[in-house]
Amino acid sequence: MEGVLDHLMRDLLTQVGGYDLCVTEFVRVVDQVISDRAFYRYCPELIYSDVYGSRTKAGTPVRVQLLGQHPEYMAENAAKVIELGSSGIDINFGCPAKAVNKNRGGAVLLKDPENLYQIVKAVKDAVPNDVTVSAKIRLGYEDKSLAIENGQAVEAAGANELTVHARTKLEGYKPPAHWHWIAKIKNEISIPVIANGDIWSLEDARKCREVSGCKDIMVGRGALTIPNLGKVIKQESDLISWSEVQTLLLAYTEFETRGDKSKYFPNRIKQWLKYLKNHYTEADALFSEIRTLKTADDIRAIL
Ligand SMILES: Cc1cc2nc3c(=O)[nH]c(=O)nc-3n(C[C@H](O)[C@H](O)[C@H](O)COP(=O)(O)O)c2cc1C
Repeated sequence: MEGVLDHLMRDLLTQVGGYDLCVTEFVRVVDQVISDRAFYRYCPELIYSDVYGSRTKAGTPVRVQLLGQHPEYMAENAAKVIELGSSGIDINFGCPAKAVNKNRGGAVLLKDPENLYQIVKAVKDAVPNDVTVSAKIRLGYEDKSLAIENGQAVEAAGANELTVHARTKLEGYKPPAHWHWIAKIKNEISIPVIANGDIWSLEDARKCREVSGCKDIMVGRGALTIPNLGKVIKQESDLISWSEVQTLLLAYTEFETRGDKSKYFPNRIKQWLKYLKNHYTEADALFSEIRTLKTADDIRAIL
């Protein structure tokens, strides 16, 4: 999740456990090959990938996500990311951001399945055969009329996996997610399909699996609301307690205030508390206390 789920959050959440794979924030590809430095910034897990593979400290694989509209540059960057050691490539066809869509990236590409085919094919052809290439789509741009064709285009182009966020671009993040539409796509293709959208609890995960027919699921905001959601869904643990969340908040503070990161920290921690508030009433109180604070030191003192 762009601007929220960076490598530090990945580290923290995968240490809590329950997550089998992480995808980076999207890396925007326009018309050039991106520098090693930029890829390392989005995915520092690549730096020691020759020793550990592209993994978080807890050992969870990390896949770099690319977003772009030009098949040739997507392909060149995909090949580079694989050389740098990424655990596969994920291609973003779901981003609803105006700035991105205006430049013909993200969800706007869903208007024509041929766009998806050309990009996925170029990427797949540019990387070794055994590299996993996944694509993430929404159900469409304005409506769902091309949902199945888009899924089929991704498969025909050679992708190994498809993740479906069960909303159109127009539906944004508004509930509900239309899990039954994932089933419609899944029924027409044979690559593994991963269901995504509005999975906030074990109950949601159960329902989503039942309705979509998917074994595999992806969680986004839910993992920021309940940090051990992966384990809860796998029934490996109960919900993490508020005091355990507090320990995580302190660890996050420790991470996120090193070096020049302090300037982002106040916004980042407030953003996380907004998600935590959905489940923990204590987060609401804490959020009120720090809402107007602007420096990392002031917030740290309250924490
Ligand atoms: C702040 C924010 C940033 C996001 N950034 C990305 C991104 O970089 N790449 C991506 O594929 N999806 C991104 N998403 C979409 C989520 O991955 C996910 O598909 C969506 O939130 C629905 O799942 P959820 O209900 O589990 O959150 C983002 C969502 C949010 C709210």
